[in-house]
Amino acid sequence: MTDKDFDLDDAYGLRTREDILRYYRSLAPNYDDDFARAMDFRVPRLIAEAYAAEAIGPVLDVGAGTGLLAAELQGLGVTPVDGVDISPEMIAIARGKGLYRELREGDVTGRLDLPDSAYVGCVSSGTFTFGHVGPEAIGELLRVTESGGFFALSVHSGVYAAAGFAARFRTLEEEGWITRFSAEDIAFYGPPATGPHAQDHGFLVTFRKV
Ligand SMILES: C[S@@+](CC[C@H](N)C(=O)[O-])C[C@H]1O[C@@H](n2cnc3c(N)ncnc32)[C@H](O)[C@@H]1O
Repeated sequence: MTDKDFDLDDAYGLRTREDILRYYRSLAPNYDDDFARAMDFRVPRLIAEAYAAEAIGPVLDVGAGTGLLAAELQGLGVTPVDGVDISPEMIAIARGKGLYRELREGDVTGRLDLPDSAYVGCVSSGTFTFGHVGPEAIGELLRVTESGGFFALSVHSGVYAAAGFAARFRTLEEEGWITRFSAEDIAFYGPPATGPHAQDHGFLVTFRKV
C-alpha cells in the first residue's frame, strides 16, 4: 500500500455526492486490504458486537460499503442483514460476498425506497464521519425502523459535536423519539495503523426508538 492508493485525508475532504462516488469508485477493489486490513479497522466488529448483544434481524446496514459489518453480524448470528450504500462499486464488492438479503443503491441523506418500520434495528460503521453523512440522516433511519428498534452507529469524534450529532441525539431524546441513549468512546484503528489518523476515535452510539 502507498499513500497514493489510500489516504484518509482524501476521504475526510469529500465535499459533494460526486466526490464520494468518484472516491469509492477507485477505492472499492482495494478497500478491504489497503484500508481495513492495513489499519486494523475495528469499528465493524465493535458495532456488530453492540448490536448482537441487544437485537436480532432484519437489520439495515447504513453505508454498507464492502460488507465488513455484515460479515461480523453474520458471525454473531444476526440475520437477515440488508444494506444501503451510495456507491455502486462498493455494493458490487459486498454483493460478491453473498452476505446480504438485499443490497440497494441509495443516498441516506434523502428518502429511502423502504416502507416505514421495515427493520428491527439499524447499524452503521464508518459512515458518519468527515465528508460523508451528517445527522440529517437519522430521521429517515428512525422512520424505517420499528418502534422499540435498536440502533448501533459509529460517529467520528471530529464531527460528533461539530456537525451537530450530539445536539440531534439530545433533541431526539428530550422530545421522546429515542431512549436508552449511550455514547461510548472507541478507538477506530489497531496497533498496525500508521499515519496521522492512526489514533482517530469516535463514539459507538446506541439507542432505542421509542
Ligand atoms: C468508510 S466507508 C464504510 C463502509 C463499511 N460500513 C465499513 O465499515 O467498512 C463509508 C461508506 O459510506 C458510503 N456513503 C457515503 N455517503 C453516503 C450516503 N449519502 N448514502 C449512503 N452511503 C453513503 C460510502 O459509499 C462508503 O461505502
